[in-house]
Amino acid sequence: MITSGKIAKKTAAFIRKNISNFPQIGILSGTGLGESMQSMDVSFSCRYEDIPNFPVSTVKSHIGKLLVGKFAKDEVMVLQGRFHLYEGYSPLEVTFPIRVMQELGIKILILTNAAGGLNTSFSAGDIMLITDHINLTGHNPLVGANDDKLGIRFPDMSAVYDKKLIDSALNAAKEEKVHLQKGVYAGLLGPSLETSAEVRFLKTIGADAVGFSTVQEVIAGVHAGMRILGLSAITNVHDPANPSPSTLDEIIDTAKKIMPNIDTIIKRVITDFNE
Ligand code: HPA
Repeated sequence: MITSGKIAKKTAAFIRKNISNFPQIGILSGTGLGESMQSMDVSFSCRYEDIPNFPVSTVKSHIGKLLVGKFAKDEVMVLQGRFHLYEGYSPLEVTFPIRVMQELGIKILILTNAAGGLNTSFSAGDIMLITDHINLTGHNPLVGANDDKLGIRFPDMSAVYDKKLIDSALNAAKEEKVHLQKGVYAGLLGPSLETSAEVRFLKTIGADAVGFSTVQEVIAGVHAGMRILGLSAITNVHDPANPSPSTLDEIIDTAKKIMPNIDTIIKRVITDFNE
């Protein structure tokens, strides 16, 4: 069981040994979106199973590879595939990669995920810039004794998603002519998809999209003092009046189609960060 910052230190030491330039930007990619940042100049690549103490993704469509390399003028670290509570991982295991990034000195965290649309103005194939989230998983990675070396006991969550990164993503979308929606992401435990009553509930409480990831990592990222950007690939849109079934294959298929546009935005955000 992976629990402490000490273990993250050991994992970070292994990565550090294999790289000569240290990344400032970390990217964590979700369902169907793993193959992102193909055009980076990779200097180190490692499968999760070969990284000491790293959990191994059990989900189809999650590649399970860590890449470090140069993009534009920046050194970035990309994690192709994440860990979910619904796989049986604890909140500490789900957020272990964030603690490793923290240990490596990463300051900017970019997360992508696949999500179901709740906002009726969304269509499958859209990208939603996450402006805020609602954690409905019933879990929190900060439960337990606080490690003051990692962050404060009660981190403020009033402005989690970084305003400058949001503006940069909006500019990028405009200039690259990528249609970008904005909204609130509701994080659920999963893995069963939402009932029609749950969809109505989520819309009522102000959620625009729903998924089974991201919120744990974002909470750990805030605790670690990182600036955060989140992008959701809207793979399906829920209509509780006319419910239609969604399958994982359709979700992955649509996410893969959305990926190039998500990549375009991320690349522009990284380039902007440098200027
Ligand atoms: N619900 C939860 N997670 C998802 C969905 C959904 O409808 N679509 C893609 N990921």
